[in-house]
Amino acid sequence: MAPSESTQPPPPLSTTDAEPAVPTESEPLLGRPGDAIQKPDAPMFLNLVLGTAWLSQLGALLLLVTTWSAVFLHKLGALISPHPLLQSLGAFLLIQAILILQPTSTPADKRTGQRIHASLHLLSFLSFVSGIAVIETNKHANHNAHLHSLHGYLGVITGTLLLAQYAFGICMWLVPGVLGGEDKAKALWKYHRYGGYLLLVLVLVTIGAAADTDYSKGVLKIKGWTFGLGITLVVVGVFPRVQLRKLGIDRSR
Ligand code: HEM
Repeated sequence: MAPSESTQPPPPLSTTDAEPAVPTESEPLLGRPGDAIQKPDAPMFLNLVLGTAWLSQLGALLLLVTTWSAVFLHKLGALISPHPLLQSLGAFLLIQAILILQPTSTPADKRTGQRIHASLHLLSFLSFVSGIAVIETNKHANHNAHLHSLHGYLGVITGTLLLAQYAFGICMWLVPGVLGGEDKAKALWKYHRYGGYLLLVLVLVTIGAAADTDYSKGVLKIKGWTFGLGITLVVVGVFPRVQLRKLGIDRSR
């Protein structure tokens, strides 16, 4: 069975609105302690909208709907249309994978959250790989130049780093032996989290740069501000929910 990181009970939550929030080791980066911690009896799916997550959901939906409607409202192409469809779907699933796990606190919830997180990432990975395979086939079939735009460069860098992050995540969670054993693997979890947040930003920047490609502007008629707004909402929804303790930052000392 996949290991759980901690057997410690969840930190105390602030109980009333009138109480001044006492900083704890689980204080989110912004907001008050408890804003984004899953309560022991709360259903897991609520993590997807807890605290500021609903803002991320608005942003994720805006990116998905803008892309899918732009593709289906304009000229379809077998070797180009699937790329934006699959990449925006992959990003949507990746955002859900982060939001579901962030607020987990008890060992049991962490274990359940990890399974859902891994499943969502598997779907996201399949979506990204298929979408990149389509665009590379397109380039090969039409003898188009690679790395033709900023988006092309970012796409290759982000895709490569995502592969490394998946491999790291699978090793530390499923086969910790390859990292020197369970204890050593657990000590590395925080780097997976840092990597995850960095990659979320890179995925969003890659999507932002996609709005500036000739195809997005000329064929899909995507307005840059819609992607800008979607990306901003995702960021302001995700980052205030970061649990500093999970990143190895203990502010209670
Ligand atoms: C995380 C999301 C995305 C990733 C990882 C990604 C990745 C890539 C990669 C690897 C390439 C080929 C680069 C090359 O061989 O030179 C590419 C090209 C392209 N992508 Fe994306 N993409 C993403 C999202 C999107 C979205 C949302 C759109 C459209 C709305 C889009 C539109 C395009 C276009 C038009 C090209 C061809 C232009 C060019 O390479 O200069 N991509 N993408």
